[in-house]
Amino acid sequence: MKNSIIYRRRSVRTFTNKEVTDKLIKEIITDAKRAPSWQNAQPWHVYVAKENKLDQIKEISKQNERDGKKGEPELTVPHSSDRSELSKANIEEWEKSVHSAFITSDGADRALKDANHNFFFAPAVAWVTVEANASEFTIFDAGAFSENLMLAAKEYGVDSMPAYQLIKYPDDIRKILEIPQDQKIIIGIALGYADDSDLNRILTKRAPTDEILTIQK
Ligand SMILES: Cc1cc2nc3c(=O)[nH]c(=O)nc-3n(C[C@H](O)[C@H](O)[C@H](O)COP(=O)(O)O)c2cc1C
Repeated sequence: MKNSIIYRRRSVRTFTNKEVTDKLIKEIITDAKRAPSWQNAQPWHVYVAKENKLDQIKEISKQNERDGKKGEPELTVPHSSDRSELSKANIEEWEKSVHSAFITSDGADRALKDANHNFFFAPAVAWVTVEANASEFTIFDAGAFSENLMLAAKEYGVDSMPAYQLIKYPDDIRKILEIPQDQKIIIGIALGYADDSDLNRILTKRAPTDEILTIQK
């Protein structure tokens, strides 16, 4: 349904500095936890950083970028050589969508990098974790939870941004937020209110349904 919340959620890459209140964050997480999980194990935990804690994590991440430190996320990063032809074509389309929101490709690349390195200027970031020895199905559960979180946020008028950039240096996040070793950091989701920058004019497409659907009778 084209006007449903599914269509209204999209990745927002620069946020205003308007606070997302603790009360609202609690409401969003309360809704997100309705996600399905294997045997209803609900294996997730959410760590939200705002203000001083978020600034600390962001500053270290920016320093890591300046030092050219290699990212060490706790999940395996997909490599383009392992991608299907359809995925490769979709990624190419995505790159075109990014560039078409800007006058020059160079401007797009710079703005995208700057936003990423600054955690999208978000006033809050939620990190979703699961038990450390998680099976692939537990990761699946965390994915369902994360999408629920972003849709619930949008229902309350809060925009979101799931990003590798937010979990590129998990050791620092773990240290500052005191995330125990028995938790694996799955994804970071920036939360806030979209500003009117070009980066937020990126409109992504999806491959035709017939290319991803097989119905057999
Ligand atoms: C696991 C994951 C990691 C992502 N990491 C980044 C990132 O580091 N930087 C970024 O700009 N976008 C990132 N994205 C956003 C995707 O580019 C975006 O979801 C995709 O282009 C579809 O656009 P939409 O979310 O607006 O529908 C990530 C998305 C996912 C699901």
